[in-house]
Amino acid sequence: MSKVTWKPGTLMAPVPPALISCAHNGKDNLITIAWTGILNSEPAKTYISVRKERFSYNLIKESGEFVINMPTSHIIRSVDFCGVRSGKDLDKFEACRLTREKASKVSCPMVAESPVSIECKVTEVVPLGTHDMFIADIVAVHIDEQYIDEKGKFHPEKCSFAAYAHGQYFALGKKIGSFGYSVKKKKK
Ligand SMILES: Cc1cc2nc3c(=O)[nH]c(=O)nc-3n(C[C@H](O)[C@H](O)[C@H](O)COP(=O)(O)O)c2cc1C
Repeated sequence: MSKVTWKPGTLMAPVPPALISCAHNGKDNLITIAWTGILNSEPAKTYISVRKERFSYNLIKESGEFVINMPTSHIIRSVDFCGVRSGKDLDKFEACRLTREKASKVSCPMVAESPVSIECKVTEVVPLGTHDMFIADIVAVHIDEQYIDEKGKFHPEKCSFAAYAHGQYFALGKKIGSFGYSVKKKKK
């Protein structure tokens, strides 16, 4: 294998093009955020990095809350739309025909069409340069019951999760292993 060296950049992929819902002072909005991930297990902590010029920035900063709605191939067109149009000009829930669903611990709505919605409360805002990183506690997680089996096991492989890599969207779905399978002893 021969690798070409590029200048340092944000090439790490895939990442989830998450659909973030937020609200403040009676106005809610949706923004697509690819710069997100898990920061810590216990307490469960996440982050989103948002540019100050986004309409959503102040909604998140002022309310200290947001919901991460995981993207799927079913809603990927809306995910893209919410990443190229601003809530200062239109209501993205209406424009994408997405359904507001009441959250349990935060005031902003969740997206009903997303199979996994993660409620978050901001604990810290870290200015990094182009983006401010909102570090947040995960305060509730909601999973569509159709992806949980009778034993209570969650089946992410059935969710049609979508991924983002270098400007393109991809559908995930084929399970190719599970945690620790490489060292698991075969049943005799
Ligand atoms: C796939 C994708 C990923 C994006 N990731 C981010 C991100 O991580 N941070 C950010 O500030 N903007 C990101 N954007 C841009 C915003 O989603 C976009 O500017 C949006 O229109 C802002 O909406 P608002 O003005 O309603 O807040 C992304 C856009 C797309 C399409």
